[in-house]
Amino acid sequence: MSNYLSSDRKKVTTHRLLEMKQRGEKISMLTAYDFSFGGLIDESGMDVILVGDSASNVMAGNVTTLPITLDQMIYHGKSVMKAVKRALVVVDLPFGSYQGNSKEALHSAIRVMKETHADAIKMEGGSEITESVQRILSAGIPIMGHLGLTPQSINKFGTYAVRAREEAEAEKLLADAKLLEELGCFALVLEKIPAQLAKQVAESVMIPVIGIGAGAGVDGQVLVMHDMLGISQGFSPRFLRRYAKLNEVIHEALKAYIEDVKSRNFPNENEQY
Ligand code: KIV
Repeated sequence: MSNYLSSDRKKVTTHRLLEMKQRGEKISMLTAYDFSFGGLIDESGMDVILVGDSASNVMAGNVTTLPITLDQMIYHGKSVMKAVKRALVVVDLPFGSYQGNSKEALHSAIRVMKETHADAIKMEGGSEITESVQRILSAGIPIMGHLGLTPQSINKFGTYAVRAREEAEAEKLLADAKLLEELGCFALVLEKIPAQLAKQVAESVMIPVIGIGAGAGVDGQVLVMHDMLGISQGFSPRFLRRYAKLNEVIHEALKAYIEDVKSRNFPNENEQY
């Protein structure tokens, strides 16, 4: 099997990600939500697999990430974990599972770790979630932070536009990034913020900073699998590079199958008992 590091089957850990940042090796991260794609992505040599709450959009067809439940995230996490041998797997804590209070947050994080066997969790927010972050970290659960455009707060923002263009919001974001590092988060995701600010954050903290729509000055990149493979359509933000047009490939295959069934071309003599 050819992949980026075909000889490197050593498990990716939070410590390895830190070493990658230190030696300037960029970190690759992609979402996955099920066993089949989890396995394909792991075999490709991806460093980090995110079981993102974007499952709410691309798997369940919701408009936002808000409806997905903890049980549903655990289902996706378990499915991915059955396939993954090498990548570090991070599972999103969904909206409503950690914002209420820190005890509830710890309970949610423990459920994810116990039931999925994932390596870490991801949470959206800065100083507002300090207590929850501290409590979860004190239980030995690694946390990836998420700042900038945080889709679980879409109803507060009212728009998916670029965040932290204004000085006050940029200053808060930088302070939040430093706070999350100080508290003990092992990495950060920065979503849809100016490239210059993202670079400044990456240079201000020791932990790896993974960007999505945050430019090239960060320590790694993450995309949503359905978007980068061209399965989803109608979502084309500037930061999205499509590496395939699977939508077209799948449509062609489906049309050919229907045609073969209708024309009695499938199954042929070799395809029956
Ligand atoms: O849920 C998700 O897919 C994410 C990425 C956009 C970082 O949080």
